[in-house]
Amino acid sequence: MQFAASLNAVAKSKFQALRGMRDIMSPDAERQRALVDAFAHLAGLSGYGHIMSPIVEDLGVFLRVGESTDVVTKEMYDFEDKDGTRIAMRPELTASVVRAFVQHNPPSLPWKVWYEGPQFRHERPQAGRYRQFSQVGIEVLGSDDPAVDVEVIALGWRFYQALGMNEVTLLLNSLGDDTCRPQYFDALETYFRDRASELSEKSQETLEKNPLRVLDSKRAEDQAIIADAPLMVDFLTDETAEHFAAVRSGLESLGIPYEISPRLVRGLDYYTRTTFEFASTALENAQNAVGGGGRYDGLAESLGGKPTPGIGFALGVDRILLACDAEGVFPAPDLTPDVFVLDVTGTEAATVIADELRMAGISVERAYDGRNMRSQMKVANRVEAPWAVIIGETELAEGNVTLRDMHGDSGQTLVSRDELVATLSTKVAN
Ligand code: HAM
Repeated sequence: MQFAASLNAVAKSKFQALRGMRDIMSPDAERQRALVDAFAHLAGLSGYGHIMSPIVEDLGVFLRVGESTDVVTKEMYDFEDKDGTRIAMRPELTASVVRAFVQHNPPSLPWKVWYEGPQFRHERPQAGRYRQFSQVGIEVLGSDDPAVDVEVIALGWRFYQALGMNEVTLLLNSLGDDTCRPQYFDALETYFRDRASELSEKSQETLEKNPLRVLDSKRAEDQAIIADAPLMVDFLTDETAEHFAAVRSGLESLGIPYEISPRLVRGLDYYTRTTFEFASTALENAQNAVGGGGRYDGLAESLGGKPTPGIGFALGVDRILLACDAEGVFPAPDLTPDVFVLDVTGTEAATVIADELRMAGISVERAYDGRNMRSQMKVANRVEAPWAVIIGETELAEGNVTLRDMHGDSGQTLVSRDELVATLSTKVAN
């Protein structure tokens, strides 16, 4: 009943995509796919297998990501399923991938996977910040070798390079592990508590949940206090400091430049040891993070698995494309067809010829709706295909069609129907 009533209410309404969600259309959609293909290629070269996990998960999967983060407490699209289960549309993929790892218990480690797809966060939309956005990313579970950290970070870096991006900065930090973090947490908590009255109201609330998150505040009134806060790097145990040094040295051996960013905490709670962010200097400061990641050595265990180290990153596809626009690189692919087919016979010849050419790997566009020759030629000119096949009555009756060079100066020639595919194949290949 309720359903019928709401159907009535929306009859004839005109809808728009929801706030913060966009229709990505051609050629932007092809550009996005080309980006994903380029990422898949790089990930494949390093032995990462593709994982496609569900877009919705049990809410509990994401609660582990950070009960003191906005991503989980404020921005999650969570709701009750028809059977009463609390579920959430994924705000990120790391927790889903680790859930899949624990569920399937892959026999050979490290387990290396790559992914792509939409994420959902109920944020305040603005340029570069959407409620549905896309990420590409990788995760590695089962090794804490610093060489893995280096491989992961390098893959991100090489990807930006492959797209032609030059204005990316790698920010690097270590957030310590279970041994050194408690001391750092205590020091940070004491420091912020002593100055709590000077902190913004929001940061005072954050302090109650997780003092580390206060470092993430972008509020002006917090900045001076954050600037003097104790740093994790000064609390690292010898082992963690060595691990971090090995990561840095690995990056140096690959010639990958980085900046140590001792206050980089990232927006999710699961991070340990190596953490990093890729910032684009081509974008506005507020939304300039084009990717980020780090180690999460405790996440598998907190999702019910065996203690298993893990590391990965996710790169924001929408923001990367904005940064590419700003740098003038990685344009949308050229979708101009090879051939335009025009027909004045009113027969099925255009349908058949277009099909033959397409099956031979030649891209074809054509006119429809029985338009006259002039209006078909207008469409052909607009489409800008380099070749036109013109099907005329007399020519067709004699087993021929006309082939016209639309851009060059070779004019038009009569080609036998039987030789059309072969003739065009050589021309298109050139
Ligand atoms: P994250 O930093 O929350 O990390 O997101 C990664 C990237 O996604 C950001 O750097 C940004 O480019 C993009 N992004 C995030 N939110 C939005 C938004 N609302 N609109 C547009 N783009 C956005 C993660 O998601 C972690 N799962 C990364 C990771 C993988 N850590 C370890 N493994």
